[in-house]
Amino acid sequence: MGHHNVCQDNILFNSMWFKKKEEKTEEDHLFTKSWMDKWEENLNESHDFKKKAVKWNERIILKATPVSGPFEELDATGIWINIQYGKCVEMRYATTEDEPVADVIISADLHTWSEIIHRKKDPTMYIMKKRIKLEKGSLVMLSTKKKAVISLIEQAPSSESYLPEKVVNLSEKLYDKKDQKREYKTTGKGLDFDSFPMQLFQKAKKYGIWNPADISFEQDKADWNQLDDEEKNIILHLSSLFLAGEEAVTLDLIPLIRVVALEKRIEEEIFLTSFLWEEAKHTEFFSICMKEIFQSPSDLDKYHGPFYRTLFYQKLPHALNALELDASPTAQLKAAGTYNIIVEGTLAETGYAAFEKMLRENSIMPGIQEGIGKLKQDESRHIAYGLFLINRLLKEHPDERYHFENELEELLNDATNIIFEIFQPYDQVPFGLDQEWFLNYAIKQFQHRMNRITF
Ligand SMILES: [Fe+2]
Ligand SMILES: [Fe+2]
Repeated sequence: MGHHNVCQDNILFNSMWFKKKEEKTEEDHLFTKSWMDKWEENLNESHDFKKKAVKWNERIILKATPVSGPFEELDATGIWINIQYGKCVEMRYATTEDEPVADVIISADLHTWSEIIHRKKDPTMYIMKKRIKLEKGSLVMLSTKKKAVISLIEQAPSSESYLPEKVVNLSEKLYDKKDQKREYKTTGKGLDFDSFPMQLFQKAKKYGIWNPADISFEQDKADWNQLDDEEKNIILHLSSLFLAGEEAVTLDLIPLIRVVALEKRIEEEIFLTSFLWEEAKHTEFFSICMKEIFQSPSDLDKYHGPFYRTLFYQKLPHALNALELDASPTAQLKAAGTYNIIVEGTLAETGYAAFEKMLRENSIMPGIQEGIGKLKQDESRHIAYGLFLINRLLKEHPDERYHFENELEELLNDATNIIFEIFQPYDQVPFGLDQEWFLNYAIKQFQHRMNRITF
């Protein structure tokens, strides 16, 4: 019974994911007029700020140096904030003329401001660490008003949409001067055979060498002809999602392999050769099914709904191809989160469960069942590598975690919306498939992955 309750809770919890993400408004963009208005409104509605800033009277300029982004277009230098007795009496763009009358001027580049605002950081700490500059005013005074300062920042509408990323260009890595003194690991200290990627590679050579062309689909063809139209439709529907999905992960993996290679992580690259080969084979497997069992229907992308398209036509390729221009830890985490955690670890896993329910439970189509069984084994290595990569990145860059988790939360929303979208056209889903069961299954898969992110 306890287990039953957990499921119920999950369904309730899930319902929050169904909501479509609202369109981004101007408020979502940092440093815009409406964003400032919202910040002012938040401050004046906040009891916390009122309490902590009750003895605080200060005209503050949060200055952007160099002047860039929205400030540049408006000839502004930053944001003017006038605090009087716990109330924000004025918030607007600042100009150079405001500087002589300001009590406090704090300057930082836009990236740092975005980080402080988005991550709710304490600006006084940034001043002390010399990451931002106190151009005017006293640090001692700010430190004594620390709680008010933090509350001021906490009330700022948080947003990632103006968070310029720190770009690490791949070509910089490529033309790294140190390459002149390149060392080859194999002729130096040697490959690390005990490393996790090498262990995965040993498994890949053992279990990943199956051949889709060796699978017999004779019984599958006979079973297919016995199905009614609705049943055929749902099998084609799910197959078409897998077909494009496998092609997408085959097309999109290369930029990640390239980053790993340029970082000279030879053991990881060795494993990734099997990873890419297996994805190619999965694409081949579903293509063979289409041809041999389903007689090559041509308009399969009619099954790709808007949410599916957002993830597989846009977000996945963008997240991976972005690595060509930006190989920063932030960008790598986004790529691995999208690819390994959401596409492979959440959606693909749920899709296999659907196939298993349809085919295994009805003892039909043994060829597809066999292929899916092999595919699942391959995927478990891919997901394991993804988790290894994410843990490695987060261990080296622990302050990325917050941003990464936010990213994943949005992606999980995309994934659950896709499941929702799959079931929408059916009044009665063939083979007794149940939407809630799958949503729960997907969330559970996601939770398993999250539990294995340990940093
Ligand atoms: Fe795959
Ligand atoms: Fe995969």
